[in-house]
Amino acid sequence: MESMRIRPSQFFDSQQPPANLQDIKTRINSFVEKHAKVPGRRIVLVTSGGTTVPLEAQTVRFIDNFSAGTRGSISTEYFLEHGYAVIFLHRQYSLLPYSRHYSHSKNCFLDFMKPDGNGGITVAPQYTPAMLQVLEKYNSVKQQGLLELVSFVDVNEYLFLLREISCSLAKIQERAMFYLAAAVSDFYIPMGKMVQHKIQSGEGALHLELDQVPKILSPLVKEWAPRAFVVSFKLETDPSILISKAKTALARYSHQAVIGNILSTRKHHVILITNQEEKDIRLTKEEQDLGVEIEGSFIHELIERQDRWVAAAAAVEK
Ligand code: PMT
Repeated sequence: MESMRIRPSQFFDSQQPPANLQDIKTRINSFVEKHAKVPGRRIVLVTSGGTTVPLEAQTVRFIDNFSAGTRGSISTEYFLEHGYAVIFLHRQYSLLPYSRHYSHSKNCFLDFMKPDGNGGITVAPQYTPAMLQVLEKYNSVKQQGLLELVSFVDVNEYLFLLREISCSLAKIQERAMFYLAAAVSDFYIPMGKMVQHKIQSGEGALHLELDQVPKILSPLVKEWAPRAFVVSFKLETDPSILISKAKTALARYSHQAVIGNILSTRKHHVILITNQEEKDIRLTKEEQDLGVEIEGSFIHELIERQDRWVAAAAAVEK
């Protein structure tokens, strides 16, 4: 079948940018400018959660994917612990750093509270130490202005925001990292082909034709932020093709690293692939039972590789 994938520039020329793009641009530029002034400060863009694909312009129905933003929200906390400033580009209402410990799907915050006997409420004593730790980290990050939140819903918004943020981050060159953990749709309905109103069920079976979303890694690496350290993720369900697909991505886009993961094992097994190596990173059964997070291990590895990337660029400039 002939490929229908359009070029990124055609995509941006034919799609409508989000209404709040200018406001976000202003906010991101001032975040980047502020942190660029701090010697040695790095900024990472973490993308997180799934993009939707609307079926109607006045959207009633949309296609979605599984991602709740677990990887992205956990990773953000580790980057902050390593002194990075973070732009967290996330799906609206998906998991957020820090509050993810008390999300609605696990550990509802109400289960941690109790009446204090004087008409007020307090945290139950058995939960206080852990909650206090999270709260202190959260407050410190807020106070230092280290975390900037930007949300998207559909793939169109995601791509426009990604381009805007990339061009802003390009100003800090090798000190910028891109950590593209969002689950990005490969298919969409272009605005020009989308119906305006709710699709009617009285018209029989629904036949959809979706166009291919342009692969955005290509302009990101080649044009928008060519000196940044770029990490993409490769998600597969078939382990036998994961490494070859990850290597193909690395060769095609010429970026710095791919984290390969399989849907069913992604929380305890990833493969870090660069041009020099292929590193298996796993949590043991004991670590999994203790609630160790795999992001802690591989983010540390990525930061070491960015250190070398920054040092190599500095050596060339001398
Ligand atoms: O949120 P969780 O439940 O914790 O799950 C985490 C995760 C499994 C979503 C995450 O670890 C992950 O693998 N994210 C990438 C998912 C994905 O989009 O994979 P892909 O193989 O379809 O795309 C590979 C890369 O190409 C991605 O880095 C993506 O940013 C990029 N891409 C994708 C589509 C597109 N049109 N342009 C792109 O550049």
